[in-house]
Amino acid sequence: MMAALFYVNPTPSVVAQPAQGGQGIGNATLLRQVPYVPTPQDVVEKMLELAKVKPDDVVYDLGSGDGRIVITAAQKYGAHAVGVEINPDLYRQSSARITELGLDGRAHIICEDMFDVSLKHATVVTMYLLTSFNEKMRPKLERELHSGTRVVCHDFHVPGWDPDQVVDVTSRNDIPHKIYLYVRP
Ligand SMILES: C[S@@+](CC[C@H](N)C(=O)[O-])C[C@H]1O[C@@H](n2cnc3c(N)ncnc32)[C@H](O)[C@@H]1O
Repeated sequence: MMAALFYVNPTPSVVAQPAQGGQGIGNATLLRQVPYVPTPQDVVEKMLELAKVKPDDVVYDLGSGDGRIVITAAQKYGAHAVGVEINPDLYRQSSARITELGLDGRAHIICEDMFDVSLKHATVVTMYLLTSFNEKMRPKLERELHSGTRVVCHDFHVPGWDPDQVVDVTSRNDIPHKIYLYVRP
């Protein structure tokens, strides 16, 4: 699936200007980016199902793209959902969609670098990022997430963590996906 991330979207969404409402983006941030590739909707639903998302959950999608995980968590599972997205265009597009769907009370997107956003309120974290990126996020996740928080990763595992569950899913377009579920000790 590494190939899918790079070849489905050969032009990575590298952001060269400051994120709206966020801090200026320097060279360090540019090195900490992952290209935009959306998770197929049926895989989104499987991820949230695996995490057993409930209305009292606070779901953070790190690198939220067009907001589909955030929107599904709020709309289908009634959770409070937060997306963190560094690309201002995706931030605007997903925020507009949330408003259009009447989900403003339950879902919102923060236009920031995920390394700068506190995760202490999260009870579920979803990530579709590269393994190397997950590795860089790991110390922050270990520092900030409470015991029992579920972390669900699409296709790329967190090095050094033992998954509680690994599920293979074939999406409607016949592409195989892996979902890793971790429950923080
Ligand atoms: C592979 S896409 C996943 C999108 C969405 N989570 C999904 O599964 O459909 C990764 C997303 O992370 C965003 N991103 C990359 N680096 C980021 C960073 N440092 N902070 C916040 N978002 C970032 C990209 O702009 C892109 O939208």
